[in-house]
Amino acid sequence: MVTCALPYANGPVHIGHLAGVYVPADIYVRYLRMKGEDVLYICGSDEHGVPITIKARQQGCSPQDIVDKYHKMIKDSFTGLGINFDIYSRTSSKVHEANASSFFRRLFDNEKFITKESEQYYDPEAKTFLADRYIVGTCPKCGNPDAYGDQCEKCGSTLSPDELVNPRSTLSGAQPEKRKTTHWYLPLDKYEEWLRQWILEGHKEWRSTVYGQCKSWIDGGLQPRAVSRDLEWGVPVPVEGAEGKVLYVWFDAPIGYISNSQELLPNSWEKWWKSEDTKLVHFIGKDNIVFHCIVFPSMLKAYGDGYILPDNVPANEFLNLEGGKISTSRNWAVWANEYLVDFPGKQDVLRYVLTANAPETKDNDFSWKDFQTRNNSELVAIFGNFVNRAIVLTHKYFGGKVPAAGELLPIDRETLAQVPEIKKSLEANLEGYHFREALKDAMEIARLGNKYISDSEPWKVAKTDMARTATILNVCLQICADLAVAFEPFTPFAAEKLRNMLGVSLYAGTDHRKGEQETVNTYKPGECEALHTVDADAPQAPQSGIVLTWARLGEENLLPEGHEIGAAELLFAKIEDDAIQAQLDRLEKIKAEKEAAAAAEAAKKVVPQKEECTYEDFEKMDIRTATVLAAERVPKTDKLLKLTIDTGIDTRTIVSGIAEHYSPEEMVGKQIVILANLKPRMLRGIESKGMILMAQQGDGKMRFVTPQETVTNGSIVG
Ligand code: 2FM
Ligand code: ZN
Repeated sequence: MVTCALPYANGPVHIGHLAGVYVPADIYVRYLRMKGEDVLYICGSDEHGVPITIKARQQGCSPQDIVDKYHKMIKDSFTGLGINFDIYSRTSSKVHEANASSFFRRLFDNEKFITKESEQYYDPEAKTFLADRYIVGTCPKCGNPDAYGDQCEKCGSTLSPDELVNPRSTLSGAQPEKRKTTHWYLPLDKYEEWLRQWILEGHKEWRSTVYGQCKSWIDGGLQPRAVSRDLEWGVPVPVEGAEGKVLYVWFDAPIGYISNSQELLPNSWEKWWKSEDTKLVHFIGKDNIVFHCIVFPSMLKAYGDGYILPDNVPANEFLNLEGGKISTSRNWAVWANEYLVDFPGKQDVLRYVLTANAPETKDNDFSWKDFQTRNNSELVAIFGNFVNRAIVLTHKYFGGKVPAAGELLPIDRETLAQVPEIKKSLEANLEGYHFREALKDAMEIARLGNKYISDSEPWKVAKTDMARTATILNVCLQICADLAVAFEPFTPFAAEKLRNMLGVSLYAGTDHRKGEQETVNTYKPGECEALHTVDADAPQAPQSGIVLTWARLGEENLLPEGHEIGAAELLFAKIEDDAIQAQLDRLEKIKAEKEAAAAAEAAKKVVPQKEECTYEDFEKMDIRTATVLAAERVPKTDKLLKLTIDTGIDTRTIVSGIAEHYSPEEMVGKQIVILANLKPRMLRGIESKGMILMAQQGDGKMRFVTPQETVTNGSIVG
């Protein structure tokens, strides 16, 4: 049973989600199914939690409207990318509400929870307790006046609402007050020893990043965790006296895996969840580790009833975009739904690039240039090119029929012998959740074929030796058939296209999308499988009855002599610079907008009032009007202008640091205001007598001060 983290239905999914969770899970599931394993593949939308209510408020609609919109969008994106769960349901479903509710109730009845009274912020005007995100105030670390109760987005500090200076409610603007509230807690401390044994002793094989996080949580001492919240949106706490309280989203969401299994398989779901024969694997991102390795297992342990625990939790690290952290709120992301529109028919390219750069052991970066290079230099130039040459030449010399292999030369034997070797590594990497390496292995088969055809030069050999040409192309076509199997987990669209060209079917295993009735899939060439949307106009080879399987990958005679293949079609197309530039421009625009917004924010900032002064203090200053007669830059400086000023009393020089704000030409003829009796000082060897009065904004922008109408130079300002 493979589960994928249930994405929050408060926005579309982006490449970070895909690389972290869904693409690796999909590779794994396809592989297992091809091998004949029975896999249940579960996902759905996570539709509760505070961010959804916030989004609804921002957009002036109900939380249900929000989740309806994004649930559909996310579901369609997965389908578009060839990620076909057995079920993609949602935590707002009736089945889930009942299931999560009864799960809680059983733990409650069996006294698995403790209750605690605590003080929480309450909005007296909106008459509701406030989730941390609903409280804003000044960040104690950086002074940002709009920091959230859980985090300051400006300096990145993690905060608690208590730390905020001048907290205010985002619902009403009112100052929140502390009120007592009672919640249910799962006492994780009671499961600490059991978790230590199960994970730290029993699962040393888990990824070091996952194991390490678990170890630090457990070694740090586990604390009781609240499983309820004061909130309107969610599964109501099914206990008397719990009005206005719902299950904490992280309590209900993982139960969603079980609910969705129940919804799909009402009669047989327990076979999956309560049998030692099931191997459960959770695909998640690193921010979900504690919930899947510590909290949810403790919930299941507390529940009893034979629930199994995950065999592995291959959590990924994070993917960055063009060197910056992916951020939904700042729109710094590549959204799956937009990608599918911008790059139609290129689902595999994204799957390929996200796997090649998968953040398996550390955070990684996605860049559009790398995307283009991997497509053009790897998928097109190696995989696609090899297949194309093999198929085109088979048509050219042998009328589209697999030619007979004659006696094999060492180069043929050595080439063919490498495939089973690569397969061993490929399998070990897939089974060990090393999908980057696994992809390299699959690509190694394409490189092998490409090198073989380049070294063997059948187009030259054909001029003198047709029998040898036949052998070479036979070997090439066998490798093409290997590729049609090996790439199925990674680039299923291209793999299917290739099988259509080769006129072969693929045994793809069993799925459960029809519920209790299992479906065994053999993808036949020319049939548009629901799993793969193949271009119906693509050239098709005649039906042959040849069925490839994972087990047969690396066998020598996958395509028998005389087998007819279809016309060549490009597996991958080059991605041109303009398509990449359009994406970079979009990101550049977002960056510019963000910078402009930050500057506008800074421009609004004003410094606090200075210390009190007396009228006498003020009177000491000789402030008067003057006109700029001449202006020039002070050589070798960026900031200084040398101004010749008519002060009404005299003509003098003032050196002013305004060159970044005004050109000399702009200053000439302007009436300004100066502090005339400032003690003269030498600046870059020039004596400056006085100072020009400037208004300076929070963002550093400076404007000189000028009388509303021209007045006599030397008029006193005061
Ligand atoms: O981090 C997230 O996106 C969560 N919505 C994942 C939930 S996974 C599960 F427990 F449901
Ligand atoms: Zn801050």
